[in-house]
Formats: sequence, C-alpha cells, structure tokens
Amino acid sequence: MLSSRVNPKLCASKQLSRAVAPLFHQSTLASPGLRVATLVSIQHGTVRQFSTSQVAYLRDFFPVAETEHIRQTLPSWPHHGYTEKEMLEVVPAHRKPQTVGDWAAWKFMRFCRWGMDFFTGMEKSQAVDKKNPTIAVSSIKPLTEAQWMIRFIFLESIAGVPGMVAGMLRHLHSIRRLKRDNGWIETLLEESYNERMHLLTFMKMCEPGLFMKLMLIGAQGVYFNALFLSYLISPKITHRFVGYLEEEAVHTYTMCIKQIEEGHLPKWTDPNFRVPDLAVKYWQMPEGKRSMKDLILYIRADEACHRGVNHTLSNLDQKEDPNPFVSEYKGDRSPPRPAAKPEGFERSEVM
Ligand SMILES: [Fe+2]
Ligand SMILES: [Fe+2]
Repeated sequence: MLSSRVNPKLCASKQLSRAVAPLFHQSTLASPGLRVATLVSIQHGTVRQFSTSQVAYLRDFFPVAETEHIRQTLPSWPHHGYTEKEMLEVVPAHRKPQTVGDWAAWKFMRFCRWGMDFFTGMEKSQAVDKKNPTIAVSSIKPLTEAQWMIRFIFLESIAGVPGMVAGMLRHLHSIRRLKRDNGWIETLLEESYNERMHLLTFMKMCEPGLFMKLMLIGAQGVYFNALFLSYLISPKITHRFVGYLEEEAVHTYTMCIKQIEEGHLPKWTDPNFRVPDLAVKYWQMPEGKRSMKDLILYIRADEACHRGVNHTLSNLDQKEDPNPFVSEYKGDRSPPRPAAKPEGFERSEVM
C-alpha cells in the first residue's frame, strides 16, 4: 500500500493545494523528500480514475488552449508507430565498453544510476543484480506505482536534454562553418521531442511535490551545461553516454512491464484505468490496446530506438558521415532499424 504522508504545503500554490489535497491524502508515496501524487485527473471534462479507492482530482498541466480560430495543433513530429511484434522484441541489453571513452561514459552512467536509485528512495531489496544492472530485471521486492512514477519523471526530464544540445550544437556548427550536417540534426531534435512527449504523458498522471520540482530544475541546469561542454569536447563519447542512458531507460521500462505482468501494480491493471488522451493520440494507440502496459511498451520501443541511434552515431565519423537512419541506400537495401541492434551498428555495417 502507498503511504499517505504528504504535507499539502508542498503544493505549488494554495489553489493547487486545495485541488489535490484529497488526492495526496489518498494515494501518494513519500520517499525521502520526494512526493508524487498518483493519478486521477480531469481532462476535457472527463474524470480519469487511477485509484479504485476514492476519486480525487489533479490539475491538468497542459489544458488545450482554446482560441477563436484554431481547431487543434498537431504534433510537429508525428509518431511513426510500431507493430506489436517490434515492441515485444525489445530486450534490455548492454554494449561492452571498447575504448577509454566508452569506459568513462559507462562509469559515469553507473554513477548517475546510483544517484537516481538513491534519490528516488529505492530499497536494496528493490534493486537488481549489481553485476548485470542493465540486463537483470528480477528483484526481491517490486516498486510501487508511485516509485515508478518518480523514476519515470526523473529519467524523462533528463532524457529530453541531450538530443536538443547535440542538435543545437550541430546546427550552430553548420551555419558557423558553412558545412552540411548530413541529416543528424533532425533525428537528434526529434529524439528530444519524443522524450518530452514521454514526460508530458507521465505529467498527465501525477503531481510532483515542490522538492521534486526543484530537483528537476537543478538537475537540468547542471546536466544541460555538462552536456554542452562534453559535446563540444567529444561528441563521440557523449553519444556513447546517451546510448548507455537509453540502456537504462529500456531496463527501467522492462522491469516495470514485468512487475505489471506479475500483478504487483494493481492500480495500473485496474480495468477502470485509462492512459492519457495525449498518449493515445501521439502513439495512435488502437482501441483495446490502451492499458498502462501497452503505454510502457510504446515508450520502451522509443527508448530502444534512441539506444540504437546513439550507440551507432558514436561509432561514426562525427564530421563526415551521413546519418544512416534517414539515408537512402543503394540497390534495394533499406536503412538500418535502430531498435534492431541494441549495441548500435558499427561504421563498416552502415557506411
Ligand atoms: Fe523516454
Ligand atoms: Fe530515450
């Protein structure tokens, strides 16, 4: 059961406090200093019920802006969609470090994962085999829905940064040095757009406490600047680091899917549970395939693409090589599918 130790003073505003106080009382988890309310929200006049206990209400972070003439604003990068087979084929994997740069990226990612486990209040019994941290998915004790939400939000708010930094720097390089970019920028920007859609989806389902919000602001300040410098110094190592970050994302979502399948997360298997409309529209989730597990399958497939893209980009000549994923190949060969090779394609395979 989720505990209910939440101080309504943590709400961002008095109005919000009033709106969500009943929810906080009902269904929140409090890990040290991190409080996330789990989910019941009102969207476009319909009540989304997360808990089977008492109905409560969440602020809608992204209400549709009503104007006189605009009917709707469509996504700039519509999602390409997946088959069910593609989503089920995704597995956690790890690319063994092969260079000193790889090793540095991997060790730094291990440090970040330790930080996330620590700050999200993960217990020892909830962790996986330390020797295979990105592949092993069994733990003694499952996480709660609220613990998962904290991890998702933290992970996604971090994951949306690198593509934007890398795309921005390559864009600036191109217009400063009067050179072609060869198709990298769009893929990188689309990646951060996709990560932001993951975050927005989870934000439709929960209300982070003030401490969590401050952590996100602080983390972005540090992370953006660190990535900016690291991409200037070594884009190769930075793409490898992001490849490892995406390995963590695939691992996290695989573990969550397993715990849903094993029946440890009843709020998400409740027949009344509905994923946000935003997610249904973005991934074009078909009727009957709109459970939390289905949603996580879509998100995990996205992470598997990012994993393959970044490990592959790290293997390429950063200045000269075109982006293989948006290139047209000679003969009847198709462009590589990033999710098909978790450790990324070697340069000789795609150039
Ligand atoms: Fe993501
Ligand atoms: Fe990702």
